Amino acid sequence: MEEPAAKKWKIMIADDNRELNEAIREMLIEYGFEVLQAFDGEEAFDLYCKEKPDLIFLDYLMPKMDGVDVLEEIMTVDPYALVVFITGEGSEDTAVQAMKAGAKDYVTKPFSMQYLVHTAKKFIKDHELQQENIRLKARGDAYKDNLVTITETMGEAVITIDARGTIQFMNHMARKLWGALEEMRNKPVDVLIPDPNVNLFADIRAASAEGEGYYQNEYTFRKADGGIFSGLLSASLLKSEKLTGSMVLVIRDLTDIEMMRRQVINAEKLASLGKVVEGVAHEIRNSLTSLGGFSRRLSKSVGQNSAEKIYVDYIIEDVKRLEAMILDIEEYVNYTKIHRPDFSMAHIEDIIERALIKTFGSGKFGGVAYEVNVSPGMEEIYADQDFLVEAFWHLFVNACESMEGKGSLTVNVSLHPHYLIVDVIDTGKGIPNEEIKDIFNPFYTSKPRGAGLGLSKVYMIIEEHGGFIAVNSSVNQGTRMRVFLSRKRGLKTVASSEC
Ligand SMILES: Nc1ncnc2c1ncn2[C@@H]1O[C@H](COP(=O)(O)OP(=O)(O)O)[C@@H](O)[C@H]1O
Ligand SMILES: [Mg+2]
Repeated sequence: MEEPAAKKWKIMIADDNRELNEAIREMLIEYGFEVLQAFDGEEAFDLYCKEKPDLIFLDYLMPKMDGVDVLEEIMTVDPYALVVFITGEGSEDTAVQAMKAGAKDYVTKPFSMQYLVHTAKKFIKDHELQQENIRLKARGDAYKDNLVTITETMGEAVITIDARGTIQFMNHMARKLWGALEEMRNKPVDVLIPDPNVNLFADIRAASAEGEGYYQNEYTFRKADGGIFSGLLSASLLKSEKLTGSMVLVIRDLTDIEMMRRQVINAEKLASLGKVVEGVAHEIRNSLTSLGGFSRRLSKSVGQNSAEKIYVDYIIEDVKRLEAMILDIEEYVNYTKIHRPDFSMAHIEDIIERALIKTFGSGKFGGVAYEVNVSPGMEEIYADQDFLVEAFWHLFVNACESMEGKGSLTVNVSLHPHYLIVDVIDTGKGIPNEEIKDIFNPFYTSKPRGAGLGLSKVYMIIEEHGGFIAVNSSVNQGTRMRVFLSRKRGLKTVASSEC
């Protein structure tokens, strides 16, 4: 952008000494200034009012009105007027009086012309700097306003945290997710994360300590209404010196993307797995029926102590196992296809009890000792009971299987502000880190005779209860499956079921 042409400065000289007045005028004109002259006090004030010069050199001793009086009059018109006072030698008192009355500077006679020009230039420079500052500030304010508007209308949640990791600012989206800033200010940012094992601020700090000052990762966040969502967090250090250690966090809700991803996965699961599996399961079941029937007949017709009898009995055993597996698969496919949730109020202890009976009733895991610990003050939850029993049953069976029939199973139930937490802890063989991401996938199994459908069903059931699962495992030491069940959801429905 082209700079506007430099403005010609208008300087007024008010001095009754004509010679001096002329000499100053000539000098200033030479330096490119526009010059006005007054020769007494009254003329000086009138000319000031008419011309509004940018800078005034004002002599003290003048006829009609002295310099201090003129200065006071000028100050009543414009307190910011630039007045340089001219005093005689030895009259410091007058100079002090003039400065008090609003003069910006003073020169003492005799002075060199160069000094006067220097003074004029200094004022011009200061003034221009001041104007520039005003312009910059205005531009800064406009920029800030725009930034605030952008931040407020963004689809992402924006939060700033200070060096201690406590919340300082939240934009509209953040307030929508987590409530009013007054309530959230100075709370640790970790209140946004429901999983007590995840330490968000520590993660961010560790990443910024590595010197990058920028960090991005996916987290599961809680919402003020008790729900959870998966969000992509980007954290950057704020550069401002005043805010050392402060960071801005931008959180994008991935729910829609996640939903789409899941729908695609589900669609694929059902189309390519569900349908194929359903078809295959049907075929296998037909074959198994005849295989089972024929082998049982064969078993009766072969000699009771013959080698053939042993082979045939193996076949019968395997057919039974395959039939059980097919049953699992059909049940799973039915769940994904036709399950309609059936919620009612329930005690978590009862659900766990039923799941334990289902697990240990057959005596299959006699070598496993189990205990259940429930924190006091437990409340009823709103649950799809039969399915929640099934979910815990799958978790208990997995735990027992991982201990190969020997070890201990601990179930701890506790309350979190938004969730009821059930920990299922075993002392089994654990899950290698790289496998954790796969265990919830349908048909993923590490067992020779597993169907790999238990956990994926558990996942769906827990999700139906507004919750999620966090896995914590160490190889050869054991696994903790932490199940979060939403409390809010239950409370809301209690109220509505009462009307
Ligand atoms: N408590 C546990 N300890 C160790 N591994 C586990 C545990 N729970 C689940 N797993 C792992 O997750 C896999 C998938 O479990 P699941 O979906 O129930 O299928 P399945 O039990 O039929 O294999 C298991 O095969 C096992 O490798
Ligand atoms: Mg299982």
